[in-house]
Amino acid sequence: MTVERSKTRTIAGVPSDLSLDPVDWEGFRRQAHAMLDDILGYLENLRERPVWQPIPDEVRARFHGKVPAEPTELAAVHEEFMRFILPFAVGNAHPGFMGWVQGGGTPVGAMAEMLAAGLNANLGGRDQIPIEVERQVTGWMRAIFGFPESATGLFVTGTSMANFIAVVIARDVALGWERTDPDAPSFAARRRGLRGCQKKLTAYASTEVHGCIGKAMDMAGLGTDALRLIPAGKRHRIDLKELEKTIAQDRAAGLTPFFVVGTAGTVDTGAVDDLAGMADLCRREKLWFHVDGAYGSLAMLAPDLAPRLKGIEQADSLAFDFHKWGQVPYDAGFILVRDGELHRKAFASPAVYLRRETRGLAAGSPWPCDFGPDLSRSFRALKVWFTLKVYGTAAIGRTISRTCELARYLERRIAETPELELMAPVELNIVCFRYRAADSDRVNRQIAIYLQESGSAAPSTTILDGSVAIRAAIVNHRTSQVELDRLLAETLRAGRTLLRHGNQEFEA
Ligand SMILES: Cc1ncc(COP(=O)(O)O)c(C=O)c1O
Repeated sequence: MTVERSKTRTIAGVPSDLSLDPVDWEGFRRQAHAMLDDILGYLENLRERPVWQPIPDEVRARFHGKVPAEPTELAAVHEEFMRFILPFAVGNAHPGFMGWVQGGGTPVGAMAEMLAAGLNANLGGRDQIPIEVERQVTGWMRAIFGFPESATGLFVTGTSMANFIAVVIARDVALGWERTDPDAPSFAARRRGLRGCQKKLTAYASTEVHGCIGKAMDMAGLGTDALRLIPAGKRHRIDLKELEKTIAQDRAAGLTPFFVVGTAGTVDTGAVDDLAGMADLCRREKLWFHVDGAYGSLAMLAPDLAPRLKGIEQADSLAFDFHKWGQVPYDAGFILVRDGELHRKAFASPAVYLRRETRGLAAGSPWPCDFGPDLSRSFRALKVWFTLKVYGTAAIGRTISRTCELARYLERRIAETPELELMAPVELNIVCFRYRAADSDRVNRQIAIYLQESGSAAPSTTILDGSVAIRAAIVNHRTSQVELDRLLAETLRAGRTLLRHGNQEFEA
């Protein structure tokens, strides 16, 4: 590993006037360029590295040191980063990474993040162009997803937070208004909470739904039991008949159905619920229709895949991430809400120190802090804005299509290999398979660990129909057939060795 060292002496030391700016800007500049070169070199040469490597005890131990009261040279801290942090990250930037659902990021996104950090904008509110950038991205999302002008959007950490925001808005709508101020009715639940609330709200999603929806129900005070999990039918999609039946039964039992979640790209298999069918049902039943499109919704950018998302344009709210299929560096989640006024009413709260004006810095209302729980907010919009402008949505769409083509390639190769078995239909970009063995669960768990620890590929595992499956989620724009061929070759090698050696653990 090469570490470019700055030739300067102390440059980050605290000068006598107590500003934290460098004493020697020239030296700082050289060191900063060396840091930039190092991270670009990392991205350029990713393929030569292991995808992931286990963290040696002595490296882990380094992170148990004392609070650093005294200064250290920037160059020395950077070297520490290069030697002890960079090599031991998860590796999701690497083309061989296929675990969970994680995006690879881009050099453009990294540069935008650097600019945002330099600007140090706080996007909670106030009259500033960074908020216009966020509004512009919101406008682009309205156009891409077919939402009306009245729709509002907000950057958040990720889809977990976006889903939570959707649950809160839908909950408040379902529990109704109170008219303490006749001109400005407000949501009753915002003042009273759920105390004395007669309605027992229930939400609906398929058994394939992401766990963060249950968490959102919990955090919204409704409880995870109030989330009804409807069996997924063929192709892991929600069974609409069962959904309708359960809603009817709940109503008959005196409960108040309020929220239905359709998933566009389930976390386990990439299945897409029948969003148009769900939208119809929600309209008939007067229920809030939310789409969790964490990774799948950006398939709208791929003309060959967009028709699969039909119905997404009818959602009351849509949660998704730019940091998955959008390849924007972490984190960049987003919530789009059809009725922006309901969105604002669920979160806006008056505070004297956040008073609005029509001129000056306090102009530009409503502010992003009126649409979510966060007041301090980073300039996430900038890396998305850069990514979409520099690459264009068509190129992002092509990388999305390509990950699905690669998944079909992997599916074909598995079908041709008698020792392997496909565990679920390949809907988008996720391939679940296993090595055939008598004690298949143990063997496949061991294979996944071997693949990760050897640094050759990094799939994750899941349980499908009660059995362990190796799961390759091809999200990264850098992944190619080379990495998939390596995944299969190493899987076979590990599987054969494990069968030969019986019950022993596989050592990479
Ligand atoms: C379908 C689905 N929903 C929600 C999430 C959570 O998203 P985040 O990790 O951005 O909070 C994920 C993550 O993979 C997901 O696949």
